[in-house]
This record gives sequence, C-alpha cells and structure tokens, in this order.
Amino acid sequence: MPEIGIGVVGGGYMGKAHSVAMAAVGAVFNTSLKPRLEMIAASSDASAERYREAFGFARGTGDWRTLVQDDRVDAIIIATPQELHREIAEAAFARGKPVMCEKPMGATLADAEAMVEAAEGHVNMVAYNYVRTPATQYARKLIADGEIGDVTWFRGEHTEDFYADPAEPATWRASGRANGTMGDLSAHMINAALALIGPIASVNAEIETVHKTRPGGDVTNDDHAQFMCRFANGVMGHLYFSRVSTGRKMGYAYEISGTKGAIRFDQEDQNALWLYRMEGPEAERGFRKILTAPAHPDYEPFCLGPGHGTGYQDQIIIEAKDFLTAIATGEPVWPTFKDGLDVMRIIDAAWQSAEMRAWVDLPV
Ligand code: NAI
Repeated sequence: MPEIGIGVVGGGYMGKAHSVAMAAVGAVFNTSLKPRLEMIAASSDASAERYREAFGFARGTGDWRTLVQDDRVDAIIIATPQELHREIAEAAFARGKPVMCEKPMGATLADAEAMVEAAEGHVNMVAYNYVRTPATQYARKLIADGEIGDVTWFRGEHTEDFYADPAEPATWRASGRANGTMGDLSAHMINAALALIGPIASVNAEIETVHKTRPGGDVTNDDHAQFMCRFANGVMGHLYFSRVSTGRKMGYAYEISGTKGAIRFDQEDQNALWLYRMEGPEAERGFRKILTAPAHPDYEPFCLGPGHGTGYQDQIIIEAKDFLTAIATGEPVWPTFKDGLDVMRIIDAAWQSAEMRAWVDLPV
C-alpha cells in the first residue's frame, strides 16, 4: 500500500487540525495513499518537539526549510500565519512537492499571484474547509441541478464575536490588513459565494473599525465590512463579515433565493440545510429542515446514521482526502491556488471600492 510522507508547517490551531486529519483520513476514506506523519515544523525546536510528540510525527524541526528539503517529506501543508504562506509554498514547489495552503493564500494580492505562478505544473490546493460540509456540498448540487430554479439573490455572512468586547486587548490581530476582518475572516464566505453562485463581476464595499483603541494599543485594521455585489451571471448579492458581531460564534451563513425555491444554511447548525420548494398546497409551504445523512456528499464514510452529524474536524478530513486524491490522480481538486487568487482579487477590489466609495469591476 503506497505511503506518503506528510510535512505540516505550523502546529497551532490549524496545524493540529491538519495533523489529526492526516492521521485519520486513510481509515475514514480508505484512501489509496496512506499518509505517514513524517515531520512537523514550528517557530522553535522546542515547540516543534511538543507538537511532534502530541500529534505523532516522526520528527520535528524549528526550521521549516529543513522540512521542505527533507527527502521523506512528500507533500506539504502550510498552516502558518499568512505572511509566511508564499515563501514556504515557493520553496516547496521548487522541490516539486504538492502543497495544500491554509486560506486566504498569502498576505497580499501580490503574494497570491506569485503563488499561482510558482504552483504551475504542481499539485496545489487551498484549504477552504467550510464548503466541504455535507450540507454545503449538497446545497451546491441543488443549485447546480436547478432545483431552486434561476437564482435571483445571494446573501452571505461570516460573523464572529471574539473582538466584540472593547476591553479585549490589542493583540497581533489588531494590526496588519491581513489580520483584520477582510484579510482573515471574509475569505471563507467569498469562496462560498463563488462556489454556490459563480464569479463576482463587481463590488461596492464599506469597511470599518468599530473599536479604534483597545487595552495595549490602537486598532489599525478592520472590525467589520459589508458589500453589495453583482455576480457575472447577473445575480445580485450582499456579503457581511464581522469579528464584533455580539453573540455570533461561527456565523458562516447564507440564504439563496431562486425562481422555484430557496436555501438557507448556518454553520452554527452545520448538519441542517433548510430547503423551500415552491410546490404543494399554499397552506403547507415552508422551509424544510433537512438533516445531513449518508445520502449527502462525504457523510457516509464518517457515520451510517442519518442525522447523527459530522463536525468541524471532519471537514478537514474531507479536505485531506481531496488533497490526497489530487496527488494520486494528478488531477486538480477545487479549490486550487487559481481559485484562491480569485478570492484575493475580490478582497482587493473591496478595499479599492471602500477607499474610493465607488463600484469596482473585476475581470471575469
Ligand atoms: P496559530 O497561531 O494557532 O498557529 C500558527 C503556527 O505557525 C504556530 O504553530 C507557529 O509555531 C507556526 N509558525 C509561526 N512562525 C513560524 C515559522 N517561522 N516557522 C514555522 N512555523 C511557524 O494560527 P492558526 O489559527 O492555526 O492560523 C494558521 C493559518 O490558518 C492562517 O493562515 C489562518 O488564516 C488559517 N486559519 C484557517 C482556519 C480554517 O478554518 N480554515 C481557521 C483558523 C485559521
């Protein structure tokens, strides 16, 4: 059974999630490539050793270049802050190694463009895990199959409240465009909008800092943002992103209206998809709550019971399966770095729009 040596750069929140996913994916999906946890890199030898022991890697290193160069590391997952994505990806591709990079793919549009160039001819994927829930995969299929008719409206949001309290101190999150709400949170829902509806042709955005000072310093990046958008297929849309949305913990939510029906989803209830069909007696019409089940994409390998549900870590395991499939087949699996660049272009256009207080068109 062919093994593949996995190297993970970063052992924090996402580094752990990817390590656990690579440890489990062979068993869950019976993948043709069986991952071997070969090496983990962190910002020091001591932290790398802690992660190595906890997650079960063979080796750890405080220097990510050592990991990239290592002959037993066959594929690389980048789970560091965005400022490091580009350098690590370029080094990995220069060694001909497949890369899965955490969102939003670099700290700037220039980073993302360079990463797409470096990825040419190599297996590459961006880690947009939320579009991989069985519910959202099914929503995507319903729309593509025309089940809600012609789409007329899209509303998407990604709202959290980790910075809702102005007494929360100013950490690294309070400065740097890449660490604000547009740079960090918006990418997942923009990616979902592209997946569910299609390319975005123009945006008109407002971006704002709500709490301008916090204990420990000034806040120099954005707390929340909204934009109107027009999709290339003519659909009208609205997007909202916030880290100060009191009460919202994982408000990755969307609502889509069509000529024959509508769909609603909220990640805080990730095993439910709400579907409205414009059919049957008027008195009995309403949104139906569909619980995820083996009939939905990528559910059955986790559990045979309908309504039992999958969780956050399972999305990362689905993503690991898709990355291994791309490596095994040599066929790109969505979303690739090119798709990640599309998201970065929209974030950049939103900034331009907010600064000019005007609509900005995107090449589609
Ligand atoms: P974190 O702060 O929890 O972990 C970052 C890791 O990077 C740490 O282990 C640190 O040791 C490592 N690191 C920093 N500098 C390094 C260096 N020079 N060499 C090697 N390792 C180094 O950050 P978190 O939340 O895991 O974020 C990492 C990435 O994942 C970011 O790009 C972020 O946007 C993305 N992210 C994605 C999420 C998702 O659901 N897909 C959720 C949270 C973050």
